[in-house]
Amino acid sequence: MKPDTKLVHAGRDPEQHQGTVNPPIHRASTILYPTVDAFERRTERKYGDSGSYGIYGTPITFALREALADLSGGARSVVTSSGLSAITQALAAFLRQGDHLLVPDSTYGPTRAFCTSTLARFGVEATFYDPTIGGAIAGLIRPNTRIVYTESPGSHTFEIQDVPAIAAAAHGRGATVFFDNTWATPLNFRAFDHGVDIEIQAATKYLAGHSDLMMGVITARTEGLFRRLKDGIDEFGDCVAPDLCYETLRGLRTLAVRMRRHEQSALEVARWLAGRPEVVRVLHPALPDDPGHALWKRDFTGSSSLFAVLLRTESKEAVAAMMNTLALFKIGASFGGFESLIVPAQLKDNRTVRPWTERGTLLRLHVGLEAPEDLAADLDAGLRRLAAVPADSQPAIMKLKPAKMG
Ligand SMILES: Cc1ncc(COP(=O)(O)O)c(C=O)c1O
Repeated sequence: MKPDTKLVHAGRDPEQHQGTVNPPIHRASTILYPTVDAFERRTERKYGDSGSYGIYGTPITFALREALADLSGGARSVVTSSGLSAITQALAAFLRQGDHLLVPDSTYGPTRAFCTSTLARFGVEATFYDPTIGGAIAGLIRPNTRIVYTESPGSHTFEIQDVPAIAAAAHGRGATVFFDNTWATPLNFRAFDHGVDIEIQAATKYLAGHSDLMMGVITARTEGLFRRLKDGIDEFGDCVAPDLCYETLRGLRTLAVRMRRHEQSALEVARWLAGRPEVVRVLHPALPDDPGHALWKRDFTGSSSLFAVLLRTESKEAVAAMMNTLALFKIGASFGGFESLIVPAQLKDNRTVRPWTERGTLLRLHVGLEAPEDLAADLDAGLRRLAAVPADSQPAIMKLKPAKMG
């Protein structure tokens, strides 16, 4: 079955619910048992698709988990209260004191912070690596390296990683490969076909798709990996409300059409921006002159809404004149919703191995579902306001120099 068809039918069983197209919401903390014996055997349900207590899920949680595993082509999925909690819990589940992990220098900032603070406090050491390292990562793998973490494209700077080469090196030394697939979704990057063991996504973004909820997904390639994951994360007590599972399952039904529209519109806006005199370059792996284009073309089946643009100006006032008055691109964190967003790229303290040294101002854009012509007109008006401000009137919005962190 094609992914578009799967997305419509996954996690649904109308005959079980009086013919209703969508599975119903059950709100529950307590789950009742008919006998003492059944109650005492409730932990046997731990890995299964039925709940023993509200914290472990209700029928809508299991419907969503089934749909997510089906979409990714993994053995099983779990959902968590945010994308970040999916990352932190999955890491904690696979690591113990004395372990070492490898993390790309371009990873999502809070992932990095979790490694350098919480994991460090618990005696786990993280080494950050150049995201473009490819198979040469073998040279960084130590006897105690348990996880090789990957994320492609890189957060804010959009480097594409050679995930199959990294995975081959990791597996050769017994390490588990994690991949943050939030940008591409399983529609555009088949993580398990490229050597990934544990796939993580912020469902907050495209999967839910409407900027109105937080959720994370962890999908394991095999049943064995799933059981290890589940053993590790159950003790955290994280849980997702049934209403949010319902909304994410509803979001999944339109994921394929939304992603295609995001992709087409983002490419249109990116190409338009690349031709502007105010722009140094556009960082989008689906553009042929992007440094990661060849790898992207080999491994991905599509792109998404999110890319960056490097403006020539370093004037804070000029950039503010553009951003503060855009009518359609709003200033705000996250992406994957129906509405367009723009933010200054977050690089401070986030690059130590491959510092960002390019001059100019880097902005990250999320291209929503509006008509791309309207979005280009909005940016055109913004760039005109930017160009009207004298270039030397203010210091840079952000100093593009190597971060200090070690
Ligand atoms: C690549 C990536 N992974 C994970 C997350 C975390 O997701 P959440 O905001 O749901 O915690 C984000 C959030 O921006 C992200 O960009």
